Amino acid sequence: MKILITGGAGFIGSHVVRLFVKKYPNYQIVNLDALTYAGNLENVKDIEDQNNYSFVKGDITDEDFVNSLFQKYQFDGVIHLAAESHVDRSIKDPFSFARTNIIGTMVLLNEFKELWKDNWEGKRFYHVSTDEVYGSLGESGFFLETTPYSPNSPYSASKASSDHFVRAYGETYGMPFTISNCSNNYGPNHFPEKLIPLFINNIINKKPLPVYGDGNYTRDWLYVIDHARAIDLIFHKGRNMETYNVGGFNEWKNIDLVKLLCGLMDVKLGRNNGESEKLITYVKDRPGHDLRYAIDASKLNEELGWRPSVTFEEGLSKTIEWYSENQEWLSQVTSGAYQKYYQEHYQ
Ligand code: NAD
Ligand code: TYD
Repeated sequence: MKILITGGAGFIGSHVVRLFVKKYPNYQIVNLDALTYAGNLENVKDIEDQNNYSFVKGDITDEDFVNSLFQKYQFDGVIHLAAESHVDRSIKDPFSFARTNIIGTMVLLNEFKELWKDNWEGKRFYHVSTDEVYGSLGESGFFLETTPYSPNSPYSASKASSDHFVRAYGETYGMPFTISNCSNNYGPNHFPEKLIPLFINNIINKKPLPVYGDGNYTRDWLYVIDHARAIDLIFHKGRNMETYNVGGFNEWKNIDLVKLLCGLMDVKLGRNNGESEKLITYVKDRPGHDLRYAIDASKLNEELGWRPSVTFEEGLSKTIEWYSENQEWLSQVTSGAYQKYYQEHYQ
């Protein structure tokens, strides 16, 4: 099989690329990534010399470029992860989210359709999406695959829109597709603008930990490698034209998670118990902040036998370990443009 993986220099994409390159030596894996602030070839350095792997730098919104790539490789499958992915950035610049997440997805869908519209046998377009398309839960209940879409941020609205286009290409042109909607990921290579890596970085550097609002917002956390395992299963065994929810069965209020992280970091850094907690600073809330996300991943479990392979404690320890051992990666990605973003957003 020839497979295009988009966004493979980013956080989740790099873990998916690594899993596929290592597990499927007979596949040809092409990683297409624009290398925005969130993309980093260091994330896939360990596999860059593998025979079944190649990297192409390019923008998914560039129709001519995507067309020439599809003509050249004649991909049998697309696993699409490239996106603008941070809610806070989407509040400041919604248009760039519409461009990449909606138009970029349409460009890929259209080139795939033009290539295979006369014979879809053995082909598949897989869109990696988010649980944020469902909007916010109250204190109880879970997101099911049948939960109506109700996105609240420009980011989630753009992902919801791209999900709709994938479904529409399936219904209208017969394109075989799968979509997965996953909860919050954490783990190695996560860009330090999202909660867990940002707070690890700030604890290391004894900087304030900016908790939005009262901190009583709830997220369902999944270790990134378990998400990559789910993507592998769904791509190969998921039913066509189906959506699968992926989640960690692991809900945490932000403030409880931050306190847990502070305790683990105190041990790791040899600091006094309670030292990092003193860095917690309550700041102005995010506009349109979703109260609670929680995924019911029973369909994926019952149909494909998937379940998370690590507990939250194990995953968090591995994550802290990785950031401690990869200080150079951290200082590289937090130099330059990151500083400007940080100043503007938090000060
Ligand atoms: P990320 O921001 O770390 O990586 C995105 C990658 O896409 C980067 O490498 C970037 O360079 C690339 N990219 C951005 N715009 C591009 C363009 N126009 N053309 C080509 N490449 C481009 O994101 P992530 O956290 O790894 O998320 C990957 C996917 O998974 C996204 O589609 C996201 O919506 C989805 N998702 C993320 C989470 C999460 O918790 N992070 C949860 C569920 C779903
Ligand atoms: P984030 O990692 O941005 O993921 P998402 O918004 O996609 O869920 O945020 C996770 C939670 O942490 C969310 O409720 C917002 C909150 N948060 C903070 O309190 N402070 C921060 O500096 C950030 C980045 C997030």
